[in-house]
Amino acid sequence: MNIAILSRGENLYSTQSLLKAGLARNHNMEVIDPTQCTLVIEDNTPKLYFCDEIVDDLHAVIPRIGASNTYFGSSLVRHFQSMGVFCVVGSEPILQSRNKWTCFQILAKAKIPIPKTILGNAFDIGSVLDMFGDPPIIIKILQGTHGQGVILAETYQSALSTLETLKAAKVRFIVQEYIAESNGSDLRVIIVDGKVVAAMKRQSKQGDFRSNLHRGGTSEAIQLTFQEENIALRAAKALRLGVCGVDILQTHNGPVVLEVNSTPGLEGIETTTGVDIAKTVINYIERNRK
Ligand SMILES: Nc1ncnc2c1ncn2[C@@H]1O[C@H](COP(=O)(O)OP(=O)(O)O)[C@@H](O)[C@H]1O
Ligand SMILES: [Mg+2]
Repeated sequence: MNIAILSRGENLYSTQSLLKAGLARNHNMEVIDPTQCTLVIEDNTPKLYFCDEIVDDLHAVIPRIGASNTYFGSSLVRHFQSMGVFCVVGSEPILQSRNKWTCFQILAKAKIPIPKTILGNAFDIGSVLDMFGDPPIIIKILQGTHGQGVILAETYQSALSTLETLKAAKVRFIVQEYIAESNGSDLRVIIVDGKVVAAMKRQSKQGDFRSNLHRGGTSEAIQLTFQEENIALRAAKALRLGVCGVDILQTHNGPVVLEVNSTPGLEGIETTTGVDIAKTVINYIERNRK
């Protein structure tokens, strides 16, 4: 098969891991940088150029669309979908999962437990804060990743001034209950084709509340409880993502989903768990082409 990875970084761990897994199965593998693509619609027919060369012989693509490139990247994936190319994650699910509020709306509709969350922009800021108990509370911008864009406001004053700043800067945000009992840890679950293929527990570095490995967190492989596995699978299904990373917080009232990531990094989870996730993605493509 001819398979392309849509990625801006050929040398990134995840891209290399997927390349190797595809080559090991004798597929023709290629990395396409979305920023080098030209999307054309002519006579109602979608056409695609990568560095001036027409791309018309692909069987499948693996989108690795970065947060800085969401609009063009998801448009590129939509183009491939219109061309009949199998995409392991679709354009709409990428957009829906990337916007934290949209993602929570979809999870809530599917009755998946999530923390209490309010979309802040349209409200009077004081009344938003009044809808929560005493601080701390969590404030997030809608499109943040790697823990950048998540704020822990420990006092009413810091929450108020942060929200006023975001409002003045016209940055959309959500306000969320702080799950203190998670103690700076969360679970990252990787799902491929409706199955959990790997799971790890991440712990924030001393003094931080964010468990992202990019923020210096540490990780260990874990066995999920039935309930954790169940909500992770339901989250992937609700967002219609063939491949994703679901983040879960453990609360006194059971697990809640915090985020569904359509482009989960493979380095941390593959090194922590020893699972060849890239191989499971290639297997997923092979099953869908048959
Ligand atoms: N409501 C919350 N309560 C406690 N910790 C949280 C909460 N929201 C986020 N965190 C911590 O911050 C990290 C980053 O938040 P997340 O919403 O996943 O944003 P990002 O997309 O930047 O990873 C989480 O992995 C978790 O450790
Ligand atoms: Mg996260």
